[in-house]
Amino acid sequence: MAAAERRQILITGASSGIGLEAAKTLLAHGDELTVLCRNEERAAHTRAALSGSVQTCVADLANLASVAEVIEELRQHQAPFDALVLNAGLQYAGHRSPRWSAQGIELTFAVNHLAHQLLVDGLRQHTQAVVITGSEVHNPSKGGGRVGQPAGLGTMEGLRQGPGAAMVDGVSPFNADKAYKDSKLCNLLMALELHRQQPDLAVVVWSPGLVIARTSGGFFRESRQANPVGQALFGFVARDLLRLTESVERAGELLVQLITEQVQRPGFSYWSNGLLGPGRHQFEPTEPSEEASDSDQATMLWRLSNDLINASLAPAK
Ligand SMILES: NC(=O)c1ccc[n+]([C@@H]2O[C@H](COP(=O)([O-])OP(=O)(O)OC[C@H]3O[C@@H](n4cnc5c(N)ncnc54)[C@H](OP(=O)(O)O)[C@@H]3O)[C@@H](O)[C@H]2O)c1
Repeated sequence: MAAAERRQILITGASSGIGLEAAKTLLAHGDELTVLCRNEERAAHTRAALSGSVQTCVADLANLASVAEVIEELRQHQAPFDALVLNAGLQYAGHRSPRWSAQGIELTFAVNHLAHQLLVDGLRQHTQAVVITGSEVHNPSKGGGRVGQPAGLGTMEGLRQGPGAAMVDGVSPFNADKAYKDSKLCNLLMALELHRQQPDLAVVVWSPGLVIARTSGGFFRESRQANPVGQALFGFVARDLLRLTESVERAGELLVQLITEQVQRPGFSYWSNGLLGPGRHQFEPTEPSEEASDSDQATMLWRLSNDLINASLAPAK
């Protein structure tokens, strides 16, 4: 690929799983990649896994102060970008107690949404496109979104309460699975609001489908700790018996496909890798859920998240 065609891409969550697979392909295409990793150890692991000219930067997405620092570094040394790829995410479904970020914010919301809003807000003038890994579980009327407590942010009372609220709606008892679904709803609402504020940007959210890697780490590692037998059975049945899952390699390819096809198209789109039948998926533009399409909800989430970020980063009096 000629130097002029080389894209400059920043990606979060490429030290493992879907992001790592996408990063391998992007580097093979000749793109210039900066991978944001949680610490130096994960950065060294990522450079070793991605032999090639990958660059890494360090910020723990569970610490807004560390994200604020890396934004300055990226603005000075790496920008502008063709695309910001916000792919990092976690869930700890099966655990009963909330976990907290450095600023005392529930961890799933803090990492999957809040840190990414800070990052995108800090770099939006320095990129052409923003690509966000969401999930169909944000939608209470479809597939996995129908199982268990549904996504729903209510009046976002939890965000008005500030740090220490276990759930965004401020009223539901803590449920780690719902916290994850809520965070993926936040991904879509944030994208919608970003598009409203900056229509010249390409803003793409996508859902990879259910991806259960065969490795011991990865996305289900925390759930596996909470329920090793149940999770092993779930993995075997969903992936090997019923073939309801997407492979991690294919999910990485889909992310690269989106980056390639969509980053020069200003506007908002949501793509989902829907399950057609055993071993068969279809990747296509899809309607987000009703709540994820609510522009008032999107504006309120952006504003309350921004307030929470500013309060968290303000020097202690
Ligand atoms: N797997 C699925 O079934 C599925 C389905 C729908 C959507 N998704 C979404 O796909 C995305 C990628 O997930 P995956 O399946 O590839 O899982 P994964 O293998 O666990 O990858 C998650 C990535 O996020 C990074 N990350 C987590 N917490 C971080 C923090 N505090 N600071 C910096 N980086 C952090 C991880 O870094 P470390 O390596 O250091 O932990 C890792 O690179 C997530 O947004 C997830 O919500 C996954």
